[in-house]
This record gives sequence, C-alpha cells and structure tokens, in this order.
Amino acid sequence: EAFRVVPNASPASAEERATVLADLKFGVNFTDHMARISWTADDGWTDRRVEAYGPLPLDPAASVLHYAGEIFEGLKAYRWADGTIRTFRPEENAKRFQRSAHRMALPELPVEDFLAAIRAYVAVDGDWTPTAPDSSLYLRPFLIATDVFLGLRQPKKAEFLVIGSPSGPYFSGGVKPVSIWVEQDYHRAGPGGTGAAKCGGNYAASLLPQMEAYARGYDQVLYLDAKTDTVLEELGGMNVFVVLKDGTVVTPVLTGNLLEGVTRSSIIQLLSDDDLKVVERPITIDELRQGVASGDVAEVFACGTAAVVTPVGRMGAKDFEQQVGDGTPGAVTMKVRQTLTDIQYGHAEDTYGWMETL
Ligand code: COI
Repeated sequence: EAFRVVPNASPASAEERATVLADLKFGVNFTDHMARISWTADDGWTDRRVEAYGPLPLDPAASVLHYAGEIFEGLKAYRWADGTIRTFRPEENAKRFQRSAHRMALPELPVEDFLAAIRAYVAVDGDWTPTAPDSSLYLRPFLIATDVFLGLRQPKKAEFLVIGSPSGPYFSGGVKPVSIWVEQDYHRAGPGGTGAAKCGGNYAASLLPQMEAYARGYDQVLYLDAKTDTVLEELGGMNVFVVLKDGTVVTPVLTGNLLEGVTRSSIIQLLSDDDLKVVERPITIDELRQGVASGDVAEVFACGTAAVVTPVGRMGAKDFEQQVGDGTPGAVTMKVRQTLTDIQYGHAEDTYGWMETL
C-alpha cells in the first residue's frame, strides 16, 4: 500500500538546512517530515503516510509512558558521490524489528512496510542526507504502544514512525580510542530477559552504570552475563570484538542476552573473507584481563551502526587498569573499519549486495 504525503506547511528554509548540514552533530537535528503507520488490533496496519515532523499528542495514560512498550532500530542513509542515497542491509533491521516486537508483545510490522516507510521518508526528505566524510542521515524507526489503559496487557494500539537525523560521527573527534569499564555490579540482561530485543528499556537501564563509569574516567561499559558474572556480553549500545595476538578474532556468541548487531554480523563476514579466523564463543573476563595484561590480546573494538567500528584503547575493572596494545587504534580494527565504510559510502564495490538504493 502506498504512502500518502502530507507536506510540512512550514519546512526549514534552504538556508536553515544548509546551517544544519554545515555543523553536523549526532542525533540532534531532524528533518521536516516523518513516516508513520498506525496499528490497531482490530484493523491492523493502516494509514501509511509521510507527514510533518513534530510533537506526538499522547494520552497521559498511553501504555508506552507507563510500561515502556517501545522498540527501535538504527540505520543510516549514505550519500554517494553519484548523488544516489543508499542504505545498508535494511532488511536485517526490518527482521530484527519483528523479533524485538515479538519479545515485547508488540505488533510485528511486515518487512515490506518497514522498507517502504524508509523509502517514502527518504523520497521526501532525502535532501537532508549530508555529504561530509563519515556523515549520514541516521534513520530511527520506532514503535510505541499507545493504548489508553493502565492495566498491564498486550497493547491494542500502536504507532510506527521513522524519523531521521542528519548526523556526523557518534563519537566526536575522529577515530579516537575509547576506554571501557568491565561492569561487575550491574547487568544489562539476564537469561530469558530482553537482552536480544532492541527495546528502549535496555538502554534506559544502561545509563546509571554509564554515569558511574564516566565518574571513574571511562567512556563505555562492557557487561558480563548475569548468570555466572564471568562471560562478556556487550556494551551499552554496541557489540564487542577482541583481536588476539595470533590474529584470531573472537566475539561473544549470541546467547539470547545480547543484541544481534547488523554491523557485528557484517564484520564477521568481512574478517572471515579477509582470511582471518573469526570465532563466536564465550570470552571470560579473566581471559580478557590476562590477555590485555600479557599482550595476548592485541586489539579490542566496539561496533554498531552509530559507532561503526570504534577502537578501545584502555580497559578497567575492579583492581584492574590496563592499556590495550599500545593504546592506539589497531591494524585489524582500522582495516575492517575501512573495508566496511568503503562499501557503505560507495568507495569499494559492493560484492555482498548489502547496499540498497533508496
Ligand atoms: C545504533 O548503533 O544505531 C544504535 O541504535 C545504538 C544507539 C545507542 C545509538
């Protein structure tokens, strides 16, 4: 079903847009429109439209405000030198959105509607896609439960929206190594919990540990599994990879407690095809601590759509503080970052068929 367009009556002027595009931040500025589909249990998905970006009138009893019925996705639209706008493996996001919806008892948006919403949105607001190096139009699809009811039940009303933010890098200051605190007091997710779902609640719960890590002088938090408190899972909003001295690359196996990152799986593919041995397996905090201290761990990096590939230069935990390698971005980290971004920005051939023209 086609999207109708209800144009914004007072869009940003060309000058205002140019001002935003000349000083890109991450997730601060938004475009003139948003895509939207409404859902009710009785009628299903209805009223596909692109309308003016703006506040959402919500009943104060809307269930998202009380019981956090919310899921989201993150993907980027890239402006290629030939003027086309492309996005990276959007079907993977669409499918994960369905898995997240299932876990949160929210309605599952058909993959075609997810993709069509992105297309319809970019067709209207594609001019907001920046051209500066490492910039993109960051797309944020999300779904909220809008039932007006304080009983706890599966929502009967929901709204799906796609907003977009012309953005520079998530971490400002170029590819600068971040420091990570290995968290032994708080957990991100537990067995049977919502760790694999991209729901806002997971991210809300990560903020207190994040603030405590900042206070200790660290940029990011790395969580351990809740059951044994020994096995690495992921950072607050990124997956993690460890490069061993012998060239093997290891990353936490998907246990159901961590997010199945699109960037994560793409990196596994790229490294494997670059003849590196990539192993998804449990990695313990002891192995990491000893490896970082002895040099058996050569590199650590974090990855995600927003973070792309971010080197880790220092790690800490209770009674532990150590530089990773020589503290600068590692060779494997920087090579896979380059390979990935070359595909995304159209600087290398897309041999995997990952890029979708919008
Ligand atoms: C992304 O990487 O796109 C995410 O959704 C993570 C978020 C913390 C920015």
